[in-house]
Amino acid sequence: MLAVRVSKQEAEKIRRRLIELGVLSRGYAPKREGEFVLFPVTGSVGGFELVEADFERLERRPHNYREIVEIPDEVRGLLPSSFDIIGWVAIIELPGELMPHGKAIGEAILRVHRHIKAVFAKGGKVSGEYRVRELIHLAGERRTETLHRENGVRLKLDVAKVYFSPRLATERMRVFEKTQPGEVIFDMFAGVGPYSILLAKKAKLVFAVDLNPWAIRYLEENIRLNKTSNVIPILGDVKNVAGKLEADRVIMNLPKFADRFLREAMLSVRKGGVVHYYGFGPEENLFSEHEAKIKAIAKELGFTFEILERRKVRPYAPRQFNIAIDFRVLK
Ligand SMILES: C[S@@+](CC[C@H](N)C(=O)[O-])C[C@H]1O[C@@H](n2cnc3c(N)ncnc32)[C@H](O)[C@@H]1O
Repeated sequence: MLAVRVSKQEAEKIRRRLIELGVLSRGYAPKREGEFVLFPVTGSVGGFELVEADFERLERRPHNYREIVEIPDEVRGLLPSSFDIIGWVAIIELPGELMPHGKAIGEAILRVHRHIKAVFAKGGKVSGEYRVRELIHLAGERRTETLHRENGVRLKLDVAKVYFSPRLATERMRVFEKTQPGEVIFDMFAGVGPYSILLAKKAKLVFAVDLNPWAIRYLEENIRLNKTSNVIPILGDVKNVAGKLEADRVIMNLPKFADRFLREAMLSVRKGGVVHYYGFGPEENLFSEHEAKIKAIAKELGFTFEILERRKVRPYAPRQFNIAIDFRVLK
């Protein structure tokens, strides 16, 4: 193919000039020839020495693991279009038919995303009090401890020992934006601290409770990592803490069971304070069952409340959503 031959010393300057002129042929590697460099060009260009030469094609880096994964064609259509990335760990949800090809899928992910060091498949649903899930190793390192960055916060955590979802980053930022400087926050189900440490940037004090000793261990480490001084980690059942403190804002990020803790949340929020309640709801009836529970507990306690906002946080299962209801307790 047609090429421009230039001296080694001028190569970089001329490469840029050829790009400016729009004639540098993409997809081929320039070639060294003694004291000269040859650039492939798409057509004749005046003012340069033109020669004929062969060039090696540049390998285009694939952007998506689905472009390179080697699996039978009949199951290719089942490949998920996305997966979670937590620091250097990838977690993918594979249908049963793809599990025999898990290793090939994991290796393709490692090849495309160079910063990922370990790939796991979800081994079941998030379950138990600690809300963790089983993971199946597919490729790369077997290490499950990772360092994740989100909303300017560094979070160290072990994906096999604690709950963490990177898909909640936007929701956490929403709550941060609603937080007023100087508030006292009660993070009832704190995990490794993605809400607590973020909100601590505005709040006066954050009480961060979790039942899982691993979550509290990582929370303590994350407090140090982020040089946060106003988060108080508390290991234990939130039922033992609630009512013993008064917060301006309460976060109830335990969507599966938050309704069971509404009494504790309402008893812990000051008059006029806000509760961020989370739950799961079917598409056709996202909020009303949850609101009925809020209403019932408020009535029992003799409190009034006002709903500030209802929102879909993210899809959770087919036709199911993780939802949020923000309400103010008037007492
Ligand atoms: C869905 S996770 C949320 C963690 C964290 N807020 C986040 O956004 O990553 C719920 C957390 O609540 C904790 N938990 C469950 N029941 C609890 C209880 N009765 N008291 C305190 N923590 C509890 C679990 O251990 C888990 O870490």
